[in-house]
Amino acid sequence: MSIEVNNINKSFEGKKSDKLSVLEDINLHVDDGELVCLLGPSGCGKTTLLRLIAGLDQPTSGEIIENGEFVKKPSGDRAVIFQQYSLFPWLTVLQNVTFGLEMTNKDNKSENIAAAERYLTSVGLIDFKDSYPHELSGGMKQRVAIIRSLLNHSPILLMDEPFSALDMQNRHKLQEQLIGVWKRFENTIVFVTHDVDEAVYLADKIVIMDKNPGRIAEIIEVDIERPRKRESHDFINLQESIVDKLDMEE
Ligand SMILES: Nc1ncnc2c1ncn2[C@@H]1O[C@H](COP(=O)(O)OP(=O)(O)O)[C@@H](O)[C@H]1O
Ligand SMILES: [Mg+2]
Repeated sequence: MSIEVNNINKSFEGKKSDKLSVLEDINLHVDDGELVCLLGPSGCGKTTLLRLIAGLDQPTSGEIIENGEFVKKPSGDRAVIFQQYSLFPWLTVLQNVTFGLEMTNKDNKSENIAAAERYLTSVGLIDFKDSYPHELSGGMKQRVAIIRSLLNHSPILLMDEPFSALDMQNRHKLQEQLIGVWKRFENTIVFVTHDVDEAVYLADKIVIMDKNPGRIAEIIEVDIERPRKRESHDFINLQESIVDKLDMEE
């Protein structure tokens, strides 16, 4: 499914009725099956833009089109994954992870459990599959919630800094798993991050944003082959050139 963001402006009512212009002139095309990262400093409007694409909020002007239809409200096509997650306290880890699958793929119970167990193993949580959320640390709960969202296979994933609170090792594992899910299910993904390394690892296309007001500064097509190696020249060069650009803009 493709997403078209056309001439979006968004302002909020500020104090004393001043208008705070948060996004100006945003134009962006996300192709079917593309993985696009929105990259920019805190406060540049990344979350605001993601909420507009999700249909959770309306632009002040401009339009967002998904597969030829105007986005007016949230839809089941689009899974929104925020920084904070919640698990169902009365379900075990395994039940939490397979929760969505039980509705969308209910005739394949053993397949669902096998997939869930594979994911839990890869992030070191398989021994906790029968535990309840209150028995887990914050970071463990977060990994469980991310796995649940990856297993849900919505055609569009809108992800807002989902891995930012994890340690590096788990962040890298979940990035790899996200790529695995995306390759297999050909989701269209808009992934928000302020981490250059994460954007270079994940993206087909990196949208660099400026702040005050939030605008698109540059769009970079990333044609480094996958699986990407962080130590490769192409990876390091692109990362450095983006870091330089972000420094210039701050
Ligand atoms: N509901 C709101 N009302 C007023 N101002 C808001 C609202 N949401 C976001 N903002 C402002 O919009 C700007 C961009 O915020 P945000 O989209 O959260 O940026 P980012 O996700 O890039 O850090 C910030 O200055 C923030 O204070
Ligand atoms: Mg944000």
